[in-house]
Amino acid sequence: MRVLHVCSEIFPLLKTGGLADVTAALPPELDKEGCDVRMLVPGFPEFKHGIFDQHLVAELPAKFGARSVKLMFGKMPDTGIPVYYIDAPDLYDRQGNPYNDQNGQPYADNHLRFALLGWCAARIVEGFDWFWKPDIVHGHDWHAGLAFAYIKALEWNSGQRAVGTVFTVHNMAYQGNFPAYVFSELDLPFSMLNPDGIEFYGQVSFLKAGFYYADKVTTVSPTYAKEIQHGEQSCGLEGIVQFRSNDLVGILNGVDTSQWNPKKDSNIEASYSVRSMTGKKKCRLALQKEMGLDLQADKPVFCVISRFASQKGLNLVVEGMNAIIANGGQAVIMGNGERWLEEQFENFARDYPGQIAVRIGYDEMRAHRIFAGSDVVMVPSRYEPCGLVQMYGSLYGTLPLVHRVGGLADTVTDCTLENLAEDKATGFSFDQFDVRAFESAVLRAFALYGKPSKWRKVQKRGMLQSFGWSHSAEQYVSLYKQIKIR
Ligand code: ADP
Ligand code: GLC
Repeated sequence: MRVLHVCSEIFPLLKTGGLADVTAALPPELDKEGCDVRMLVPGFPEFKHGIFDQHLVAELPAKFGARSVKLMFGKMPDTGIPVYYIDAPDLYDRQGNPYNDQNGQPYADNHLRFALLGWCAARIVEGFDWFWKPDIVHGHDWHAGLAFAYIKALEWNSGQRAVGTVFTVHNMAYQGNFPAYVFSELDLPFSMLNPDGIEFYGQVSFLKAGFYYADKVTTVSPTYAKEIQHGEQSCGLEGIVQFRSNDLVGILNGVDTSQWNPKKDSNIEASYSVRSMTGKKKCRLALQKEMGLDLQADKPVFCVISRFASQKGLNLVVEGMNAIIANGGQAVIMGNGERWLEEQFENFARDYPGQIAVRIGYDEMRAHRIFAGSDVVMVPSRYEPCGLVQMYGSLYGTLPLVHRVGGLADTVTDCTLENLAEDKATGFSFDQFDVRAFESAVLRAFALYGKPSKWRKVQKRGMLQSFGWSHSAEQYVSLYKQIKIR
């Protein structure tokens, strides 16, 4: 089965969050399951420079404000997964990240930049590469949403089914909504600008296009698939989510264990495994030295590795930090985003040197060192479609402390007395999103840390969990097979 993945980020070339980890790890796993997988991405500078063995597939007509559009083909470093990229310098060759300019503002022509991505997916379906046509197009997040509308338009024109389609939603809050007047620039049939189509409260919604036109829709954990059917978590889209509920499934993300494995991780001070944990002690000491913390060993080191966005619920860490400080614990915080959070954390580091350390920014290798050197990773998200950091924490023997929502609920089992007794516990979770619940989870972490043999047992259970991708990949393949293609 030939599968085309359409997305905007792939680790290690371009990553702003967990999406890139997923689009890097899932295709090789699908390949092992017997799929012939290719990817399609916009020609951002990171892809243009990082993809190897490149050649031209087709010159496409000038489109969406791009004077030159070329479909290029090459391979991803490390995995060798084949990738098409769209070389359209007018749209993609920019400073800043894939979505925002250097001041953090969305590019004014984002609707065109990502329309071109979807439009090119439809062209590949149509046969623009003479040698390869997909059976399934699998798009990720709003950036790929219009692919499903262009493919549907193609089917309307030809009166024939062209391809099977799957849309994966990694985050309902990012919808790609634009004013309705941009619709005329998108080259789509006018009938699509309709509530039974891509219109969403008077806007054009790329996310809704994916929901509406894809054959199957997935989200990245079973609990999130339920949560988005109503209330706040649906982000206003409950109508379309419920409408598609028969075709909606939650498939939990996995962990790329070739990148995230304390036994083989060259980024960390010393390797370790369930059998021999002395390396973790060395990693902890190295982290304390690196971050300028006191070299204490008898109280836990808590960490945060996160985007500083309201989704991540880090206001609870700010409000509850005193529970860590007053009990003699330490905290290492790394991330960037909302300025007020950066400032609050910097204030803590200034007021409690030796106890709290903060690094504002994004640093992939340091993230490995922090996971390895800490005892608890805090993920108090307001909502979390899947979340990868709690799984990385578990595999590194760093117990996750989480708000029980979405993928966090599916991957962390709380240290209740029952779960401890039944040998099921893997971390700490709290239900109510407030500072008291957060603090009480922190206190429970201190209490367990004071009982080393119990701590060790929970740690071990976490490290032995199989968060690999193979099970999820099997689920995707069986979903692809359910779709009637022609
Ligand atoms: P999200 O995609 O919502 O940000 P995930 O938990 O799915 O959340 O994925 C976050 C990914 O980004 C993980 O790979 C995590 O290690 C990484 N990450 C987040 N912040 C940083 C940072 N400041 N430096 C390095 N890696 C980071
Ligand atoms: C999004 C979600 C996160 C998920 C990631 C990968 O960024 O916020 O929960 O883990 O996508 O699917």
